[in-house]
Amino acid sequence: MPLPQRSISAPAAAREQREMWWHRATGYQIYPRSFADSNGDGVGDIPGIISRLGHLADLGIGFIWLSPVYASPMVDNGYDIADYRAIAPEYGTLEDMDRLIAEARERGIGIVMDLVVNHSSSLHDWFRAARASREAPEHDYYIWRDAAPDGGPPDDQQAAFGGPAWSWVEEVGRYYFHYFSPAQPDLNWANPALRAEIYDMMRWWLDRGIAGFRMDVISLIGKDVDARVYEEGPSLHDHLQEMHREVLAGRDIVTIGESWSVSPETGLLYCGRDRRELDMVFEFSHIREGWDPERGKFAPRPFDLRGFKRELFAWQDLTRHDGWTSLFLSNHDLPRQVSFYADDGPYRREAAKMLATVLHLLKGTPFIYQGEEIGMTNAPFERIDQYRDLETLNHFEAQIAAGVPLEEFIAGARRNSRDNSRTPMQWSPGPHAGFTTGTPWIEVNPNASEINVEQDSAQPDGILAHYRKLVALRRERDIVAFGETEPFLANSPAVMAYQRRLGAQRLVVLGNFTGQEQEVELPDGVEGAGTCLVASHGERHHIPRQLQLAPYESLAVLIS
Ligand code: NOJ
Repeated sequence: MPLPQRSISAPAAAREQREMWWHRATGYQIYPRSFADSNGDGVGDIPGIISRLGHLADLGIGFIWLSPVYASPMVDNGYDIADYRAIAPEYGTLEDMDRLIAEARERGIGIVMDLVVNHSSSLHDWFRAARASREAPEHDYYIWRDAAPDGGPPDDQQAAFGGPAWSWVEEVGRYYFHYFSPAQPDLNWANPALRAEIYDMMRWWLDRGIAGFRMDVISLIGKDVDARVYEEGPSLHDHLQEMHREVLAGRDIVTIGESWSVSPETGLLYCGRDRRELDMVFEFSHIREGWDPERGKFAPRPFDLRGFKRELFAWQDLTRHDGWTSLFLSNHDLPRQVSFYADDGPYRREAAKMLATVLHLLKGTPFIYQGEEIGMTNAPFERIDQYRDLETLNHFEAQIAAGVPLEEFIAGARRNSRDNSRTPMQWSPGPHAGFTTGTPWIEVNPNASEINVEQDSAQPDGILAHYRKLVALRRERDIVAFGETEPFLANSPAVMAYQRRLGAQRLVVLGNFTGQEQEVELPDGVEGAGTCLVASHGERHHIPRQLQLAPYESLAVLIS
C-alpha cells in the first residue's frame, strides 16, 4: 500500500534515480516504552502514540520508525521478540496497532516496523521447540555446537552484552550461540525453512499496511560463527537478495538496514542501483568517532569534529551518483546529541538548532529521535541503580570486576549509556513531564520543568519551529533533497561547512560547533547573495568571504 504521494516536480535530469517518496521524507523514531503512556502503568504504549500523532503531523515527518512493540519478555526492551505477530500487552493490542497504522496514514505518515531477525527471544515458540529436542525441525533454526572436551563452551567467543556467547541447554546437551544476551539466541539463516517463515511474517506485516522496515543489526545475518566472522559475513548478500526477491520487490515501501560495520567500500552492496537489497543503511562511522578505539563507548573521549566530518562526507561522496544514505546523530542506543556533540548548558538551544541544521541539509533521509526536536539532554544519573539498560548494567559488573573505579564508570555511562536517550519524552512541565500519570519505568530527567514540548512549541523561534522548517525544506526544495554536497574547511576543528549544488543554485550551510566566536574564511567562489533559509541568530542574506559565527551559530543561505 503506497503512502499518499506529495506532488513533486524536481527536474528528473538532475538526479540519476527514480524519485521515491522517502527521498523527501524525514523519519521520526519512537521508542514506545518512553514516548507516551495512556493508561498510567508507567510504560509508554500504542494508544499513547496515537494520542500524540498531532505533534508528529505538525513537525511534518513522513514516517515513524517504531522500535519493537511485539510480544517480548523485554530483557532488551523488545529487541528480544517472543512472537512476531503479536503486540506486547503493555503496549496494547493488534487492533491498537492497526488503528495506529490507519490514523498515521490519514495524516500522511507511514509506520516503519523494527524487524529484529538476527535473533529471537529465548521464549519464542521456535526456541522452546529447539531447546526441547534435537529432532524438532526448529532445532536447526538456531546455531548449536557441542561442548568442548572439558564440557565447557565450544570456544571463548564473547557476547556483545558481556559474558560468553554460548549458553548450555541440558535437554539437548548442546550450546547455542547468542551474539547479544543469552535471552537473544541467534537465528540460523542457513536454514531455508526459517528464512521462509521470516519472509512470510514480513509479508503479513506489509499486508497490514505498514510503510517498511528498519532492520535490526541486519549485517549480522550472514555470519560464520566458526570463523568468528559476524558482520557482513559470507552469506549476507545472498540472504538480502533473496529477501528482496521474496518480500520487498515491487512494493512502495522504505527499508533501512542497521549495520555497525558497513563502510563506503561496502555501502553500495546494500543499496546500489544494480542491487537494491535495501533502500539505505544506518551506518555508524561518524558515531564511532566519538568512542575510545580500545575501551569502547564507556570510556569518555573528547569529540573531534574533523573525524566526524570526514566520515559523514565520505558517505555524501559515495551517494553522489548511486545509492542513498540515512542521516542521524541520535537513537535509542546513543546518547542525546546536544549533550554529546555540543552543549547542554547555556547554549543548549543554539546548539540543538546547529546540529539539526548541519545534519538535515545534507543529502539523505534524516531521522529525528523522540525528544531531539526539543533539545532533550542526557540523563544526570549518578548511581548505577538509576540505570535500567542491560548493556550498561552488564558492562558495569564486568568493568568494576576488572578494577575500573566506580566514578570512572559512571562518568562514562553519563556520557554514553543507552539510557541517556531512554528517559521519558518531556511533553509538559507537569508531573512526570506529562508522560504518565503513574510511576515512570525509568526516571524523568529533572530538567523537564524547562525542556518540554509545551514550552518549546509556544516559542516562535523554539527548537521545534526550527526542526519544522528543516523538515519542510527537504519536502519543498529540490536542492535539499537532491543537490550534490561539497564540503569545505575539512581541517577546521570548530566549524562544519559545506554547500549543496543543483543546477545554478547553491545552498551554503555553516555551523559553529563551539561555545566561542569563530572567524571563518571561506574558499574562493563560495561567497554570494541570496535568501536565508534557516538561521539561529538572525537572518543573513549574504555569505561574504570572511565572516564571524557566534557560539553555536548556524545558517543556510540559498544563492542563485
Ligand atoms: C540493535 C538495537 O538497536 C539495540 O537496541 C539492540 O539491543 C540490539 N540491536 C540487539 O537487538
